[in-house]
Amino acid sequence: IDFRKTKFLISAPDIAHLDQYLPGDTGVEIAFAGRSNAGKSSALNALTEQKGLARTSKTPGRTQLINVFELDENRRLVDLPGYGFAKVPLALKNKWQKALGEYLQERTCLSGVVVLMDIRHPLKDLDLQMIEWAVLSEIPVLALLTKSDKLAQNVKMKTVNAVRKELAEFGDWVKVEPFSSLKGTGKPKVLGILNEWCNP
Ligand code: GTP
Ligand code: MG
Repeated sequence: IDFRKTKFLISAPDIAHLDQYLPGDTGVEIAFAGRSNAGKSSALNALTEQKGLARTSKTPGRTQLINVFELDENRRLVDLPGYGFAKVPLALKNKWQKALGEYLQERTCLSGVVVLMDIRHPLKDLDLQMIEWAVLSEIPVLALLTKSDKLAQNVKMKTVNAVRKELAEFGDWVKVEPFSSLKGTGKPKVLGILNEWCNP
């Protein structure tokens, strides 16, 4: 798969809209999930080599819709609203969290979840909940430790190893890799895993 050919498909406020626009719940979808500001949209742009594909922002809570990108007719990447951000109005927060929950629970073509965590603050409660939920649902997880350019090499590897140890109980269901959208660190590995998920 040539990820550089990824195209924006639709933004949906909830799963009902998604069902309406997409031809059924078929093919392969890979979702990018994580706390607000973890770097989901930036990672999508880095992996597809398209700077403006997904909207990024310094302000957490940028992605408020389920944004779907098309790799080809049967394969899609999905940028999900971030979780865990305290400063948005409760009503709005509830709306996205509902959309996120619905998407995760109801989308049967969901074939893999990339859980992005800032390498400086990995494995918060909600991250662990997301990972546990995916594994219980038999969906493979790629835990990406983002913004790895912010740490010195030795601290970075220490963190990666600690997170691997923490998630070892999940066996092959969960892979852990460092990633930097800024420097391109981890890109070949991530693309390799996404390719595998796209070709089951
Ligand atoms: P929401 O849509 O709000 O949930 O956030 P998001 O997870 O999509 O994060 P986004 O990609 O918008 O990035 C948030 C901030 O982190 C931006 O200021 C990015 O420039 C910065 N950022 C993302 N990835 C990296 C990285 O690899 N290195 C560095 N140094 N900064 C990054
Ligand atoms: Mg985003």
